[in-house]
Amino acid sequence: MAVLDNGEINRIQQTANIVEIISSYITLEKKGKNYFGMCPFHDDHNPSMSVSEEKGLFTCFVCHKTGNVFSFVQDYENISFIEAVKIVANKVGIEIETGYKETSKYSKHYEAVDLALKFYQNNLKSRDGTKAHEYLKKRGITDEIIEEFNIGYASNNYDTITKLLTNKGYDEEILIDAGLSVRGQTLYDLFRNRITFPIHNPNGKPVGFSARIYEDVKEAKYINTKETPIFKKGKILFNYHRAQNEARRVKSLIVVEGQMDAIRIYASGIKNVVATMGTALTGDHIKLLKKLNVPIILCMDNDEAGEKATIQNGEALSKSAVDLRILRLSGAKDPDEYILKHSKEEFLDAINNAITYFDFKLNYYKKDKNLNKVEDVSKYINQVVKELNKSNDPILIDLTVNDLAANYGIDKNVLLNQIIKIEAPKVEKIAVRKEKKLSKNQKLSSILLYYMMNDIKYIKLYEQELSFIPDEEYLEIANDILAFYLKYNYISIADFISYEISKDNYEQVLSIVDNNIKIELKDADYVGIVNKIKNWICEDKIEELKEKQKNISDINEKLNIANEIAKMKKRMCQNEES
Ligand code: UTP
Ligand code: MN
Repeated sequence: MAVLDNGEINRIQQTANIVEIISSYITLEKKGKNYFGMCPFHDDHNPSMSVSEEKGLFTCFVCHKTGNVFSFVQDYENISFIEAVKIVANKVGIEIETGYKETSKYSKHYEAVDLALKFYQNNLKSRDGTKAHEYLKKRGITDEIIEEFNIGYASNNYDTITKLLTNKGYDEEILIDAGLSVRGQTLYDLFRNRITFPIHNPNGKPVGFSARIYEDVKEAKYINTKETPIFKKGKILFNYHRAQNEARRVKSLIVVEGQMDAIRIYASGIKNVVATMGTALTGDHIKLLKKLNVPIILCMDNDEAGEKATIQNGEALSKSAVDLRILRLSGAKDPDEYILKHSKEEFLDAINNAITYFDFKLNYYKKDKNLNKVEDVSKYINQVVKELNKSNDPILIDLTVNDLAANYGIDKNVLLNQIIKIEAPKVEKIAVRKEKKLSKNQKLSSILLYYMMNDIKYIKLYEQELSFIPDEEYLEIANDILAFYLKYNYISIADFISYEISKDNYEQVLSIVDNNIKIELKDADYVGIVNKIKNWICEDKIEELKEKQKNISDINEKLNIANEIAKMKKRMCQNEES
């Protein structure tokens, strides 16, 4: 893989202001010297991520994720380092060499899906696709929407796309693995005689399809790409790549079940919408949603399944402390039908009247009950109390208890006695990078290197006094720091991290920064560390000499070595004194 020149990377890094770049992803607030925001790399409930403009670093004090502007963009967008550099360069208006082509392990998969997408798209415009096209028109899907969503048509033949792609040189295994072809007696197309809706990953690359029947046939309404290396259902939300910026802009995101619902809402001009594609929200989905840092409006279908999905997804979202509203539409089976029957404006009104998840549950529990019956009232109140026990909002508790007392003639104190005081949930500590247990000497080396990454005076002292660490991995990093300094004549942690990014040492450099970020740099401490490492070197040397001594029979030689050992010991004592 071609790697951008380090000088170029450093130039981009120095031009980019880490606070500005990270602010384009999450909201940051200035507190003292640093900026703070919700960490997007773990399930954050308080702003735990600090960003230092001065150091060019971000660090989360809960999940311990640390890095520079590039590693933030890389991990946030889940892309390669080079892609992250390109994005940052673009944001700061630096043009970089794009002549080089990125090779990823799955580039053939992406290419094959992309070619299939284009092929299906053309098919829809051909005579072969007339009926499918008619169906879409009848549903009010205009050519403009078809174009915007790259909607296509997979023909009714057995192996059109399979042949097309194998003729273009794609291996059969790739086509199967990318979910386009299936192995029967011969290889055949998975999608046949269906309207194809491409599904993109969060970076906007097409990774799969959902394909719908358009005639009255007894087949599954939709079939979707199976799990592939590039299409993980649990990590992908339909339309996320188009919706994310709009969601940040208008400060909310609508989550619906079906891609047709998302398309309808989007086409009406409300572009902050994604679809779950009929599955329950996974932890990874919720991470994608939380990244946007905006309230979520959950709008499932208007049937019993939709109600169940609201509870299931609502529970998961509220557990993850997502700011959540529930929208239940009436008089239409789903948002698609609602907008067709009513209007965009009425849909927007409904959004504005979306209720809290708590209120949704209060209504939901009433549904199957006759609240004129004592037995049902008791059941209902117990369910509500259970919900109240999950809340730590004293005002909500008080209002609800008052309501229950007034409506059902129950003594308020009886209710209050049922409410157990619970503590606010503790933020879970998640270590993103598993910390290795370091030996005493490894810890010393790690601190030594951290000092060196901070100030050239520590590099100079290392050069004069040590120039060596008796641990291969740490020594290599020390040499890299020296090399960086000799090449650029300065040092900064952030720039050094970028410099190391394509090397095997990268993870270790990050963990050195992680482990020591909080220490205060003091010259005297540094001298102490240098001396301790000197002693470590001496100890190693003594061990070596003792080994040598054992294997020697010549008495004079033995004495010489004993002398050397004594010298070493003396040197160690001096190190201890100074
Ligand atoms: P729906 O049955 O609500 O579909 O399923 P829909 O969005 O209203 O679609 P139209 O309006 O009939 O065209 C919701 C989602 O569940 C998935 C699809 O992603 C669909 O959008 N689904 C549904 C399947 O994967 N397979 C199916 O057979 C049905
Ligand atoms: Mn529908």
